[in-house]
Amino acid sequence: MRFRWQESSLVVDAPAKLNLYLGVRGRRSDGYHELETVMVSIGLFDTLRLTPAPPGVLEFSCSSRHAASDALPDSEQNLVVRAARLLIDAANPRCGAAIHLTKRIPVASGLAGGSTDAAAALVGLNALWKTGLTREQLHRAAARLGSDVNFFLDSNPLAVCTGRGEIIQSRVLRGPLHFVVVRPGSGLSTADVFRALDVSQLESPSDSTPLLQALGDGRLGQAARRLRNDLQPAAMGLNPQIARALAALSRGRTYGRMMTGSGSACYGLCASSRHARSLEAQLKAEFGGHAWAVRAAV
Ligand code: C5P
Repeated sequence: MRFRWQESSLVVDAPAKLNLYLGVRGRRSDGYHELETVMVSIGLFDTLRLTPAPPGVLEFSCSSRHAASDALPDSEQNLVVRAARLLIDAANPRCGAAIHLTKRIPVASGLAGGSTDAAAALVGLNALWKTGLTREQLHRAAARLGSDVNFFLDSNPLAVCTGRGEIIQSRVLRGPLHFVVVRPGSGLSTADVFRALDVSQLESPSDSTPLLQALGDGRLGQAARRLRNDLQPAAMGLNPQIARALAALSRGRTYGRMMTGSGSACYGLCASSRHARSLEAQLKAEFGGHAWAVRAAV
């Protein structure tokens, strides 16, 4: 998350994430699934502009910078507005806010666009309103908003996330990682993908330790062989375009490739930023402009 003041407005850049490892450990009694996942934040950002407004006023507007056709949920549903309401209920600030969201992260893609926007709203409004919520209070609010929101609160680019995804252990990212991300034609609902998952069919996976070791040692080929996503087969059953995206990443000679989160976006781990940028150009032509060369970096 990156912050800057522009006159009285606080502008927050909210990054997308990729799941380099997503192991599903089983279904829980609350209907969620127990996960072990490794997430990295990447340089593809939504932007929130938070401007002080009179007490009681909470305005929300949104503009989209990409052509993906999926609509945002309406503003009451939108996680940004829900995050602001949680903060108002918790801290009763003496002023309101006008919030403008510039969307660049495609929705329904497994890139956690809604979750990062919610985290940016929590942290940004906490600063704008000087509400003084502690890190623990922000984490509790984040977990109420969604399973992926907590990862973004601490702005550390690499973490192992467990529970339903909301328990975060930050890890050191030793060097930059280069990816190309491609989003095939249509998105997927997270709930639909988890519903399509047959937990009895999952192989018991090794944990994420070998992947983290390979990343830590800069052995990209080894790391690529350890990429994992237990949701990928279920998502591919719902959206045949995912296979097309993975095949294109394979032709592009990426070290390894995988779907992120519950899809439908997929990424390839690249040798360099140059490799990622050259693939971006090819994939943009094939996937209607929905490809991005990105970096995960400290
Ligand atoms: O937590 P979040 O609102 O992002 O989750 C969306 C849906 O994805 C949940 O309602 C649930 O159906 C599914 N989910 C799950 N297990 C998780 C995370 C999400 O089953 N660990």
